Parts: sequence; structure tokens; C-alpha cells
Amino acid sequence: MFKIVTKRALNDAVFLMSVEAPFIAKKAQPGQFIILRVDEKGERVPFTIADYDREKGTVTVIIQIVGKTTEQLSKLSEGDTILDFVGPLGVPTHIEEGTKSVCVIGGGVGCAIAYPQAKALFNRGIDTTVIAGFRNKDIVILEDEFKAACTDLIITTDDGSYGKQGFVTTALEELIQSGKKFDEVIAIGPVPMMKFVCSVTKKYDIKTIVSLNPVMIDGTGMCGGCRVTVGGETKYACVDGPDFDGHLVNFDELMSRNSTYREQEHACRMMAQAK
Ligand SMILES: Cc1cc2nc3c(=O)[nH]c(=O)nc-3n(C[C@H](O)[C@H](O)[C@H](O)COP(=O)(O)OP(=O)(O)OC[C@H]3O[C@@H](n4cnc5c(N)ncnc54)[C@H](O)[C@@H]3O)c2cc1C
Ligand code: FES
Repeated sequence: MFKIVTKRALNDAVFLMSVEAPFIAKKAQPGQFIILRVDEKGERVPFTIADYDREKGTVTVIIQIVGKTTEQLSKLSEGDTILDFVGPLGVPTHIEEGTKSVCVIGGGVGCAIAYPQAKALFNRGIDTTVIAGFRNKDIVILEDEFKAACTDLIITTDDGSYGKQGFVTTALEELIQSGKKFDEVIAIGPVPMMKFVCSVTKKYDIKTIVSLNPVMIDGTGMCGGCRVTVGGETKYACVDGPDFDGHLVNFDELMSRNSTYREQEHACRMMAQAK
């Protein structure tokens, strides 16, 4: 059993949870994730390790309520326990030697995944620009945390209610056109956002890493659930990723595979809400 030691809302649909998991906290690195199961009938669901405290033995995850399990998790309180909490899984984010300047782009709850990556780069002395994009002001998360973990922070909102109006891709292209040089761009968020970031960076020939979010089940490379096509080859996001070269990812296939269970997911959420 894994005890929830801290829980707090970041906005109406996103909350942060620190869980007592000393063995995971000891080994966790940016870019890795955990798979949890709320109870013995629970689905196995993956969440990125947003932060960890090796001394306290805690691992922090940031969760957006989108369906049955995330709804169930949102109803747990500090002191409650989760049955299974497994990790760290996946390949840690790799930063090439000699990297001087990186732009980390987060979209919505993707910022939860972008945050540990920005923090790790910044702590290594790399010039780190963060572009964090949201639909509107009400759902902006992690602003203070990002401010402490990057060189420059640009917040964009689709409706202009906070920060700069427009999409993350517009802010990125403006920076590039103003002469800012990036050795690498890291983009994490909804699949269409990552796809559009990649089409911008391809024009300017900037290496781009994306963090993929296919449906995962075992998280050990055995079930095939998380298969994605990268550079024409089949890869398993749980063991080969979740980070991949964005210019080689087949995003259309990923979007199509991610919508396979939409009807069942909707029915499950309706049942969970009715309880
Ligand atoms: C490596 C990885 C890291 C992730 N990190 C985060 C994170 O830090 N914060 C966060 O809020 N979300 C994260 N996600 C997404 C998160 O796993 C899903 O939102 C969650 O599984 C939804 O479960 P549900 O029962 O609430 O919703 P459902 O109604 O079951 O599904 C809603 C959506 O979540 C996706 N999903 C459902 N089941 C799974 C599954 N087993 N594996 C992956 N995706 C699934 C579906 O494609 C669907 O679009 C991550 C996904 C991956 C693969
Ligand atoms: S989750 Fe089963 S192979 Fe990746």
C-alpha cells in the first residue's frame, strides 16, 4: 500500500499528489513515469514523475481528471492509500553533451511532464526557455515552479486571458525569428500540439524530442499496447520511450490508436460519476 502524503488542487481539473514510495524516489530521474492501480479492480494507468524527494521518500504526480480512474483518484485524500505504485519506468530524458540552449514546451497538463525536464536542464546550467500553453487563465498551472526552473518563461493562452495570446507554436516561431538559437526543443502535451511543434522545428532544422502518451497496460514491453511507429519502426513507448525524435513519429497513427476505446472510456466515466 502507498500512502498519499500531500494532495492539492492546481485548478478545477488538475491536482498534485505526493505519495510515499521511497524505493521509487531513490531511483527516479526526469522523463520517467510510474504505473498505479487504485485498488484490486483498478485499471493500470501511467503518470509521469513530476518531482521526487529522495530524503522524504516521496514521489509527486500531477493528474488531470479525464476519466474513470483519474476521477477516482481525485476523490482520495491525504492519508488514504493506493494499492499499487510501480516504477520508475521508461528511459530517463537524455541530454546531449555540449547542449547550451533548449526550449521546453508544455501544453496543458503536459506542463506537469515538462516541469521536471526544464528543472533538470536548468540545474545543469543550460539556457532553458519554457513556453507553457493553456486554453485560458483559469487552467494555468505551475507558473511559480517554472519561474524557478528556467531562464525565460512565456505563458500563452488561446483566448489571450493571460500571458501572450495564441498557440505555443506562434511563440516558438517568434523566438526563432527574433534570432534565438535552440540546440533542441522538447515538446510535451496533446498529440496535435506536439505534431505542430515538430512541423515548425523541422522548417528550422532543430532537433525535437516529444514525450508520447499511448495507452499503456503492463509498462514492461510485453503487451504491445503502447506501440508507436518511429522512423518506420515499431517502438514500445514504455520501454523505448516515452521520449522520441518528434520528426520521426507517426502522430496520425498515435491519434487514431489513442481513440480506440473512446466509447468504453466515456461509458466507464459516466458509471463512475453516477456512483
Ligand atoms: C507515459 C505516460 C505519462 C503520462 N503522464 C501523465 C501525467 O503526468 N498526468 C496526467 O494527467 N496524465 C498523464 N498521462 C495520461 C494518463 O495516463 C491518462 O489520462 C489516464 O490513464 C486516464 O485514465 P482514466 O481512467 O481517468 O481515463 P479514461 O477515460 O480511461 O481515458 C481518457 C484518456 O486517457 C488515455 N488513457 C486511458 N487509459 C490509459 C492507459 N492505461 N495508459 C495511457 N493512457 C490511457 C486514453 O487515451 C484517453 O484518451 C500519461 C500517459 C502516459 C502514457
Ligand atoms: S505498455 Fe505494454 S508494451 Fe508498453
